[in-house]
Amino acid sequence: MPACFVTRRLPGDALARLAAEHEVDVWPDRLPPQREALIDRLQGCAGLLCLLTDPIDAALIDACPDLRAISCFAVGSDNVDLEAATARGIPVGTTPGVLTEATADLTFALILAAGRRLEEAASEVRAGDWLTWEPARLLGEDVHGATLGIVGLGRIGRAVARRAEGFGMRVIHHGRRDGLALGDLLRQSDFVSLHCPLTPATRGLIGERELQAMKTSASLVNVARGPIVDTRALERALREGWIAAAALDVTDPEPLPADHPLLGAPRLTVVPHVASATRAAREAIGAMAVDNLLAGLAGARMPHCANPQVYDRPD
Ligand code: DGY
Repeated sequence: MPACFVTRRLPGDALARLAAEHEVDVWPDRLPPQREALIDRLQGCAGLLCLLTDPIDAALIDACPDLRAISCFAVGSDNVDLEAATARGIPVGTTPGVLTEATADLTFALILAAGRRLEEAASEVRAGDWLTWEPARLLGEDVHGATLGIVGLGRIGRAVARRAEGFGMRVIHHGRRDGLALGDLLRQSDFVSLHCPLTPATRGLIGERELQAMKTSASLVNVARGPIVDTRALERALREGWIAAAALDVTDPEPLPADHPLLGAPRLTVVPHVASATRAAREAIGAMAVDNLLAGLAGARMPHCANPQVYDRPD
């Protein structure tokens, strides 16, 4: 009965299924375990179920000699050094598919929030600044009929494109292998929505040059990973009017401290990485993460593995 460490309490009954087969230690705090605590709790553990806020790098993997399976409670695995895990023959599980629709829904909420200035509008009401109906107040940009530029047309990008059809939007995309060149997409789009994974190639993909290429009436939406956008460049873009608005589910740094200068920029909405935060989606993510871990610990192929090369290695 190998032991597992789970870095946070999870919604739903997935952990009970894990505990029925393995000894399970669950980190009890709201904040993630610090690196030393993580290494300490992983001694003697064969399984790790981690969150995207737990950096699992090569040195940490080396310091945990009993580790045999890592399961991410996320579709992204950028918090894990996949090369190091693969070198140790450790499969890394992820949870594709089950959060696609929830994430696409939130993307649309952010597109609408950015274009129609929802955050400013709601806070003006609360501040007592709704004195009368004003013809030129809080004017935003139309979402219907606008051009939506999707960067990364994977599962989530395609689910966003389906929703855009209902709004009569023109959808264009940029991908690694197909679609428009990034510069063309940025110049043509009224809303740019990011859906690519964080890799060395996409880190800093949207910087000063890219933001300056966008229309001054355009909005940027990021539900992918914070470091895909250069935070300082985005702050300048909003303050200096290179673009009209931005709405972010993810930031760099993440979490964004309450006194971070970006939060002082105009027409910015930030929500705390909640794209997959529906009860159903989070329970399904937990179930899938546990399925991956159970398979990994049983020495079977994980149903969803980010480094399938581990199964092709000669013994
Ligand atoms: C993921 O699963 O990678 C998401 O970012 C969680 O919302």
